[in-house]
Amino acid sequence: MTRNNYHNNNDNHDSLSHAASRACKHIDIGTAVLPQPLQAESLYAATLQREFNAIVVEHDLKWGPLLGEGQNDLNDIKCLGQYDFTQADIVVNWALQHDKKVKGHVLVWHVTSPPCLQQLTAEQLREHLQRHIYTVMGYFRGRIRTWDVVNEALAPDGSLAENIFLQKLGPSYIEKCFRWAHQADPDAVLLYNDNKVEAIDTPKGDAFYHLLADLKAKQVPIHGCGMQGHFNAAGTGRNRPPTPRMLKQQIRRLGDLGLTVNLSEVDVRTSRLENPVLETVAQKQIYHDLVVAALSEPSCDGIWLWGFSDKHTWVSHFYYDDQPLIFDEDYQQKPSYYALREAIASFGVGSVVGNGVLLEEDVNVHGNTWGHEWMQPEPEDEIC
Ligand code: G3I
Repeated sequence: MTRNNYHNNNDNHDSLSHAASRACKHIDIGTAVLPQPLQAESLYAATLQREFNAIVVEHDLKWGPLLGEGQNDLNDIKCLGQYDFTQADIVVNWALQHDKKVKGHVLVWHVTSPPCLQQLTAEQLREHLQRHIYTVMGYFRGRIRTWDVVNEALAPDGSLAENIFLQKLGPSYIEKCFRWAHQADPDAVLLYNDNKVEAIDTPKGDAFYHLLADLKAKQVPIHGCGMQGHFNAAGTGRNRPPTPRMLKQQIRRLGDLGLTVNLSEVDVRTSRLENPVLETVAQKQIYHDLVVAALSEPSCDGIWLWGFSDKHTWVSHFYYDDQPLIFDEDYQQKPSYYALREAIASFGVGSVVGNGVLLEEDVNVHGNTWGHEWMQPEPEDEIC
């Protein structure tokens, strides 16, 4: 059943974080934050303060940026160890001053690691990687207690992604990073994060499960995982959004491993549906139904958006013009905002968990598949 008339009143008491505070379980409602708009735009800071109880630094806490990417030559190994925490501190200190939880993102990600690592021997790389984890976690110890330790180590087909760490240190680099992170701060909550892993019975979704099950079996100190949730309503094949059932079952089996699970980088692209009415329907349904499905599992403790206003979204820089978030460019609530708030509010004490969402099946009693109004058919050549 689809519900499209989410309630539209914008009094503070009904912010996302307020809805989360009234829930029958702990819910992090977080968002990625950039230091520039945080300092330059009062509406950005005010919306952040009102709506979210947690934040993650979108870019400036990664290895390359911490070494002064753009200012320093990161092809020169002399840059290693030359940390500048200024931009990251702006966001982290603002969050703590405003009583927000902070998640550290990300200690080990090949995309934003300094290119000079290529020049190192395997032993030198092992040393610098360990020192990087100790240095950054040491600097933020007591301020950041939850960390994305490793990000996107899996390739789209579920194999280990080819990157500098795999090439020089072998598959055990992931395990090593978690053990070093635990040594650096034994009280920290340590997470593995990846994309396109939200659906059960998919190559990458299954590889994600088996990677985590293997780490748990080896008693590696890992406490949870993040599934990014960069959803594309017009996606087909492995880019197709999961149904609530597929997401719920994926989270259930991860929870059965003793892990916490969060949706870590949610945004919902719709522009490729090329139909404004369908775009709104799809975005509302995804923000509502997939969030209900995720939070309906005990192990799911958080929903983190990858930004909150369409004014500041990586999608427009990386893909194409789109409006994937819940506030428009003027920080006005979009229909997707109310859909998300209703999803969180449906976990309020006394509410009916599930809020009418199809959680155990993909097809409802009328024979309609979830999302049938807007889901795109598989292109001919993808129907094998
Ligand atoms: O801050 C500088 C600005 O001063 C400069 O004028 C501008 C033009 O070069 O660049 C700005 O820095 C950009 C930064 O985003 C802030 O907007 C960097 O060039 C750009 O590389 C950086 O991209 C970030 C990317 O990760 C790399 O860190 C995106 O914002 C961020 O959304 C993206 O996030 C990743 C997650 O970490 C992992 N999962 C996928 C997700 C999307 O790619």
